[in-house]
Amino acid sequence: MIGRLNHVAIAVKDIAKATAIYRDTLGAKVTPATPQPEHGVTVVFVELPNTKIEFLEPLGENSPIAKFVEKNPDGGIHHVCYEVDDIIAARDQLKAQGARVLGDGNPKIGAHGKPVLFLHPKDFLGTLTELEQV
Ligand code: CO
Repeated sequence: MIGRLNHVAIAVKDIAKATAIYRDTLGAKVTPATPQPEHGVTVVFVELPNTKIEFLEPLGENSPIAKFVEKNPDGGIHHVCYEVDDIIAARDQLKAQGARVLGDGNPKIGAHGKPVLFLHPKDFLGTLTELEQV
């Protein structure tokens, strides 16, 4: 079902500082910071030859990652994202196997403008798992 690793997301308190570490210390290619008020985050992508790293910084009062960043003030891995061909088929198959889909169970448009879903971390090795249809 799952295909390529699309990205690993790291939640951070200061996205400018995070970007500088990857750009200047690690020499990676980074995108400009993009506020996504509808998701409550500001996002930067680090573009690696084989995958991406997504930095997430809380944005606004009710950011879904605010608590995570509070608990992980140095930053921390927030989720992994795998590509699927058909997100509805993947969702239905996972639900039939007892996996929990977060939210109302319907795909939302994610940071790349493509449909995404999140799976409950308790069903996937303690790791919040995103599926993205590519
Ligand atoms: Co993501």
